[in-house]
Amino acid sequence: MKNLVIWGGKPLRGKVRCDGAKNAALPVLAGALLMDRATIFEVPDLADVGTMVALLRSVGADVRQDHEEITLRCPDTLTHEAPYDLVRMMRASFLVMGPLLVRCGKASIPLPGGCAIGQRPVDLHLKGFEAMGAKISIEKGFVHASAPKLHGAQIYLDVPSVGATENIIMAACLAHGETVIDNAAQEPEVVDLANFLNSAGARIRGAGTSRIRIDGVRHLRGTTYTIIPDRIEAATYLIAGAITQGNVTVDNVIPLHLKSVLAKLQECGFTVTELTKGIEISASCRPKSVSIKTLPYPGFPTDVQAPFVSLLSLGEGTSIISETIFENRFAHAEELRRMGAKIRIEGSNAVIEGVPQLTGATVQATDLRAGAALCLAALAAQGVSYITGLEHLQRGYANLPGKLRTLGARIAVFDETIDQASGFTP
Ligand code: UD1
Repeated sequence: MKNLVIWGGKPLRGKVRCDGAKNAALPVLAGALLMDRATIFEVPDLADVGTMVALLRSVGADVRQDHEEITLRCPDTLTHEAPYDLVRMMRASFLVMGPLLVRCGKASIPLPGGCAIGQRPVDLHLKGFEAMGAKISIEKGFVHASAPKLHGAQIYLDVPSVGATENIIMAACLAHGETVIDNAAQEPEVVDLANFLNSAGARIRGAGTSRIRIDGVRHLRGTTYTIIPDRIEAATYLIAGAITQGNVTVDNVIPLHLKSVLAKLQECGFTVTELTKGIEISASCRPKSVSIKTLPYPGFPTDVQAPFVSLLSLGEGTSIISETIFENRFAHAEELRRMGAKIRIEGSNAVIEGVPQLTGATVQATDLRAGAALCLAALAAQGVSYITGLEHLQRGYANLPGKLRTLGARIAVFDETIDQASGFTP
């Protein structure tokens, strides 16, 4: 178990480069099961990617990884069953269901695990497969699906689920006939998956809108593809600049993907400048209070909610953040209170009374974005903070300590106990 120690209170300055998007790389890797061969660039070096690679190997794919480049070759015959030990580690493992179902005629996948941020069912994925002709049963924690040949279908999603949209797109690529998904997720990562599959010969139209049409084809050829930059990682480093009242430029970002976040940073009173391939944030004061509601894209992303709670903890006045996507996503609030934040959780709202200063403390990262929120708070806090649960952060941020150090942060990784680490100096 590794932990982080951060000596806070220093404005961050400089430039940092974003990696490829985790939430695009994972479905793209799963989608590679649909084709003979794929080479994918800008795959971030993350624990979740390692889990997906292990999963793809376990079903029979030959996967070669060279830094941020991954080449997959898929044999004609794949194993239809995914191992429990891998799927329980990450919810996105469930994304292999669509590809395996359409390639093998059946798939058996354990019900997924992942971040503890709410119920996170998979009913919409399964309804989609059923509409395409699959028979579904759930036994002993495994979802079994079978269909000798999937056919196209009209599918309406009750909520625009990112994962369900992606899983259905992948199954529909090789199904017989046309599939139409209404109320589809419009996230850039869905568009990236569709672009990847289209580059291999799939016929997907409308990705990025609420209606996606997929004409099934018989075969996908090999392709090479570059993953889009990670908008959530970019937002995290911009907030790092803002919360420490520094000046940070984030490179390798697509500003369009961050419109809602940039609008809120500007409303907070920070100077945000869009550059050709990057974004600069400059901060010299505490944020003004703002109201935020998380929503499906292009609304404010739920994955940036926790980092923003940290930022607004230091706000001038009272801010309210409403979480509408996941019902249990305020675990960071309690830990932030240990650092002096004044946050009340009222149902799905966090009511944040800004304080002039946070103080370093020992806190626990309970999930990926909660961990990011604690790091951000620790960077701004006076004194030293110890953050346990680095493994959550490693699921979604490649080389977080190294990147923060290039911005001037005083941060170290340790695997001793907190008591032993208390002797560390910056
Ligand atoms: C993806 C992202 C995650 C992000 C989330 C919302 C990946 C790997 N992860 O997760 O980082 O926080 O989108 O932007 O891309 N739902 C159902 N039934 C289902 C599926 C989902 O009711 O079958 C509900 C969920 O409980 C949740 C909402 O739909 O309330 C959105 O979930 P979804 O978009 O599916 O999230 P993920 O794809 O799991």
